[in-house]
Amino acid sequence: MEDILTTALIESALKNKTEVLLLPSVDSTNNEAKRLIKSGRNTELLIVSEEQTAGRGRQGKSFYSPKNTGIYMSLILFFENGSEELLKITTEAAVAVSRAIETLSSKAAKIKWVNDIYIGGKKVCGILCESVKSVDGKTAVIIGVGVNINTAEFPESVENGGSIGSEISRASLVCEITDELYRAVFSGGDVIPYYRSRSVLTGKRIYFIKDGVKTPATAVDIDDRGGLVVLLENGEKQTLISGEISVRTE
Ligand code: BTN
Repeated sequence: MEDILTTALIESALKNKTEVLLLPSVDSTNNEAKRLIKSGRNTELLIVSEEQTAGRGRQGKSFYSPKNTGIYMSLILFFENGSEELLKITTEAAVAVSRAIETLSSKAAKIKWVNDIYIGGKKVCGILCESVKSVDGKTAVIIGVGVNINTAEFPESVENGGSIGSEISRASLVCEITDELYRAVFSGGDVIPYYRSRSVLTGKRIYFIKDGVKTPATAVDIDDRGGLVVLLENGEKQTLISGEISVRTE
């Protein structure tokens, strides 16, 4: 059966009645969000694209975004009081997307700090949260989510890519993720216990790269703010909080 995406289908199924912009193709839904905010957009918007020609990941990486087999979306939220902490939103977004995937697919989703989602040892989803000022001085947060639903082949540049592999319609996944994002960001509930229970790194030997320096450690916990607590080889504990830190398992 053809997996059709239409604005009406998405808007009618959303519990949070957010305006939807559906595009046939775009460089990156996060870029489109930034362009709209720069040109005066100051109300919430969900941007969805059938494909991205220059999808972006964290740390300057690209995100493979072919037509029809995945979803590529950015939710723009606004906050009056300046600095809405990006690590908090990033953590909430990882929980929201995992919950949505588990609800629709019944597969166990794991979170690799900060916010990559894995199923069966493969990365099926990436999340890129960015923050910019709106023209009227609010803080706009762009939550960009890319999920591979049925992408069968990945270019060599994609490390360990996988797909959910279930018969989930793109529209239902877009709506479930959006509703879960609102719940995680605005309900005031604590997402950390859920995040901890899905954390793939906890207990693993890792190394992290910060400012070009590679440091071996063991990941021991996720702290109450979503930071990754690591035990260094000299016995010191350190909490990693920046999304600019790259973490790999050994
Ligand atoms: C990562 O894997 O490091 C994050 C990938 C984030 C991809 C999504 S797809 C929708 C939105 N637009 C982008 O250009 N990136 C995000």
